[in-house]
Order: sequence, then structure tokens, then C-alpha cells
Amino acid sequence: MVKVYPSILSADFSKLGEDIKEIEICGADGVHIDIMDGHFVNNLTFGAPVVRDIRKCTQLFFDVHLMISNPEKYIEDFVKAGADRITIHIEAVDNVMEIVDMILSYGIKAGISIKPNTEIPQDINLLKKLDSILIMSVEPGFGGQKYIETTDIKIASMNKIKMVNNLNIEIAVDGGINFENVNKVIECGATEIIAGSTVFKADDKKEAIKRLKNVNN
Ligand code: DX5
Ligand code: ZN
Repeated sequence: MVKVYPSILSADFSKLGEDIKEIEICGADGVHIDIMDGHFVNNLTFGAPVVRDIRKCTQLFFDVHLMISNPEKYIEDFVKAGADRITIHIEAVDNVMEIVDMILSYGIKAGISIKPNTEIPQDINLLKKLDSILIMSVEPGFGGQKYIETTDIKIASMNKIKMVNNLNIEIAVDGGINFENVNKVIECGATEIIAGSTVFKADDKKEAIKRLKNVNN
């Protein structure tokens, strides 16, 4: 079954701890934490101290999505704050393998993310090291955007690379996922659904997470 990681970008920041506890009770598989620096993307969120504080509220897997330039400078901070997986953008670094190795050296999982106009990396040695590839289905920076339809092809291509090379890698998709398009995203090969507004704007979050997991009963 696919995993659902709600993105707290759409949570109420005045009660972040409560919102995270609620999604834990409602069956989320982890928390997706969007870190933005106002440089790599045109928006700002928060840094490691906030991650450290929300770590006290939950046992959930912390999936930290770094939409920042020079991520290598901050990896240790996010590890210490309690990240279980750190995902960096391939567009933000010169030597992606080096940064992935740095993340792995802390004993946590590593992911890489690609923006809508970025090709899937073909380096199998790199892909073998990764826990996940995060395919952005919107331009990173804001929640509540529309899913870019051509992402389907990218997910399917990544799934083919995964199958052909027998890779043990999660295919995560992030941006604009809702009840209408989630089945298609899963059929294309997504194994992790990142969803901000669809979960946090729902009146019944348990039902929303269940529907995103494609579970009918
Ligand atoms: C966008 C972020 C996403 C975002 C998803 O840059 O990486 O994680 O919060 O939000 P929705 O599901 O509302 O598109
Ligand atoms: Zn994200």
C-alpha cells in the first residue's frame, strides 16, 4: 500500500504540534516538512529549531524536504533536530553524490528531488543509495497549486528505471495531489503521496488519508 505523508505547509502554524498529533491519529505514515530559504524557491518557511520542537510531539517519520541552496551547510542541523530522511534538490547542488553520502553518513535516509523541468537522473549508482526520489508535480515553493499533468509520464519512466534495475527506491510525488488524480499517480508508480491541502483542508482527515491511500473500506 502507498504511504501518505501530509505536508505541514498547509497546517495551522499557530498549533503545529496539535495538527501533527491529529494526522498521526488519523493514519499518516509520516510528516512531510517543507524547508524553504527564499533563494532556491520564492518562499520562506522555517529552520531546524522548529523541527526540533515538533519532534517532541510525535513518533511519526520526519521527511524533510530541503528546498534550499547550499543544503550541505544545514544537513547536520536537521539531523540533530530529528529528521529521519533528508531530501535535497538535485538542482541546488554541484555534486549530488557527495551530499547524499553526507546525509547517509549520519545514519538516516537520503532522497533527491527533481523540479518539473528536471530530467530523472540516470546514474544507477546514485539511485541505489537513495531511499526515495521525490518527483515534484508543481513548481516548488507553495502549497495548493495544480498538479502538472505531464508528471504522469515522469513517474512512469522512473518506475520503469526502478523495475529494470531492480531498485529498492520509493517514488514520492509532491504537489497538487487530490482525490481526483491520486489513483492515476499511484497507477503510474508512485509509492508515497505527499499532500498538503488535500489533508489539512479536509474536515475529516482520517477519511482524507484513507482515500489518498486508495483504501475503500
Ligand atoms: C511545494 C511543497 C509541497 C506542498 C504540497 O513546494 O514541496 O510539499 O506543501 O502541497 P499541496 O499538496 O497543497 O500541493
Ligand atoms: Zn514538499
